[in-house]
Amino acid sequence: MALDEKTLDALLAENRTFPPPADLAASANARDPELYARAAADPEGFWAAHAAELDWFRPWDTVFQWAPPFAQWFVGGKLNASYNCIDRHLRTWRRNKAALIWEGEPGDHRVLTYQDLHREVCRFAHALRRLGVKKGDRVTLYMPMIPELAIAMLACARLGAAHSVVFGGFSVEALRDRILDAESHVVVTADGGYRRGGIVPLKRNVDEALKECPQVKSVVVVRRVGHESLDVMVDGRDHWWEELVHEAPLTFEPEPMDSEDLLFILYTSGTTGKPKGIVHTTGGYLTGTYTTTKYIFDLKEDDVFWCTADIGWITGHSYVVYGPLANGATVVMYEGAPDFPARDRFWEIIEKYRVTIFYTAPTAIRTFMRWGTEWPAKRDLSSLRLLGTVGEPINPEAWMWYYHFIGKERCPIMDTWWQTETGAIMITPLPGLVTTKPGSATIPFPGIEADVVDNDGNPVPPGKGGYLVIKRPWPSMLRNIYGDPERFKAQYWSRFPGVYFTGDGARRDEDGYFWVLGRIDDVIKVSGHRIGTMEVESALVDHPLVAEAAVIGRHHEIKGQAITAFVTLKEGAQRSEILAQQLRDHVAAKIGPIAKPDDIIFTAELPKTRSGKIMRRLLRDIAESRQLGDTSTLADASVIESLKKVYSTEEEAG
Ligand code: WTA
Repeated sequence: MALDEKTLDALLAENRTFPPPADLAASANARDPELYARAAADPEGFWAAHAAELDWFRPWDTVFQWAPPFAQWFVGGKLNASYNCIDRHLRTWRRNKAALIWEGEPGDHRVLTYQDLHREVCRFAHALRRLGVKKGDRVTLYMPMIPELAIAMLACARLGAAHSVVFGGFSVEALRDRILDAESHVVVTADGGYRRGGIVPLKRNVDEALKECPQVKSVVVVRRVGHESLDVMVDGRDHWWEELVHEAPLTFEPEPMDSEDLLFILYTSGTTGKPKGIVHTTGGYLTGTYTTTKYIFDLKEDDVFWCTADIGWITGHSYVVYGPLANGATVVMYEGAPDFPARDRFWEIIEKYRVTIFYTAPTAIRTFMRWGTEWPAKRDLSSLRLLGTVGEPINPEAWMWYYHFIGKERCPIMDTWWQTETGAIMITPLPGLVTTKPGSATIPFPGIEADVVDNDGNPVPPGKGGYLVIKRPWPSMLRNIYGDPERFKAQYWSRFPGVYFTGDGARRDEDGYFWVLGRIDDVIKVSGHRIGTMEVESALVDHPLVAEAAVIGRHHEIKGQAITAFVTLKEGAQRSEILAQQLRDHVAAKIGPIAKPDDIIFTAELPKTRSGKIMRRLLRDIAESRQLGDTSTLADASVIESLKKVYSTEEEAG
């Protein structure tokens, strides 16, 4: 778990409260206090009323059908996600409103109005069709944060193909596995992407990955960096984006999709070594992201909304693309790093585009805290009116810093809890209705029924820890794990039959507020990125000198959690700092730099129970109670031996 019991006790003693600002209480999109009670009394009616704010080609026959664990929403309804994010805004003056304001890392920028977005999406939908993409196909997108990524997603949705976006920081092997699992025939990429002044060679990674993906017939390449060295195109397979769209017609009829047709797959880490393809469908996902964006971020016509997440993660899918565009909002999209060229880049962007709503991660806030208040102080942040955070628990200190130095005590903070699987935000304040407490995601969104339960599934009393569960299906919930319904059932629905198991631990306080502790399974959150400890372990044991590895997340001041790997070597292999570095690089090559272990601890043995299970809790205790400096990481963790003895006596006694 990300927080220990002591920290949590201190959190629950947190008694600062921040009621909604008076102007928001009077003007917010959600300002009727009855909203919660009405949604609780009739959740299906609540969701149906909001689904009806979207445009449907054919109305649904039934709001909700539940054959546990398989849910269907708006059954029989037909709609298109691209139509809802674009075309319906073209009927009014909104056609000339900025849909995307994009800022490249080197400082270049582009603005696309809704009309522009429509044209580009239609042209790229034609390009995809020319490459043979049909309704129901999966297209893999491995791209930097450039407008073409959003355009490609919406073009897929327009013709009825599902996109599978693979984060540009993932390695060749991770990309290969995701292309193979989704059985994509087409991959869209860019020659490269900018990151902290350097270039990520995306197309080169695709070339490597495709050596083992014979089914891929076409690759589309956006010219982003334009270096000759990256211009290597494979004849008959590779196409420049600009050449493909050049002559394409300007309109493309959106495909009427069944509400339950696949909209996208997004791979995320679970408790095994193999990432799972989370399946989201059209009608429910769009209803969930549309409604949550409207109420939580209180989007008004003249807002400028900036969610800093990369589109490669669910936060980018739901709150850079689908949620805000379905609301007809102006979205800011930024390509690069927060400290390039200087540590005020985010604040510069807020000042430059007069951003009103800003949504980022606790790990970013803690980094800004460390950099110092002089950076935000240099810029005019007076346009901001609402702040959000997501991805991991936010400590009250970071919350207060955000509140004072970014929001200037004017902006309420929405601490939003949700997951790739939930599709949309689940536990969160509403800015005009809910009093916030630093460190708490507060209460479930209207229509969502969450609880904290014990081992037997019974609700625990206030102040007691337990499993966070969702008791009733909701429209934007995952429908399946791609190609693996058994894993879907086992992972989410078997712990407490018919109830969704989140994998998080939580407590509720006397006011019914939720305090999320973090993961209770083998998933960790490193700088908000979701990583499976088993994935890192498989990457380590793949190295020829490694016999066994156990990976845990330990507390880290800035990143929330850091990765500690306990490694036993094969006979004859020599421990060294060089080998430790090689192992880190090996993991980066297998998964991506985000999964690089922070510490490698060589040990003669791993502590195990009699049945052979690695005692991770013990390893976590060791990792968190020791200073793991450069030298100690190499020391034989003999402490494990003595702890093992202690543990086995305990085991015998108990
Ligand atoms: C964690 C990210 C505490 C949690 C949208 C969850 C949070 C996992 C919060 C999902 C929050 C996300 N407070 N913890 N506000 N938001 N989490 O799939 O452990 O990348 O299970 O989705 O992030 O991560 P994922």
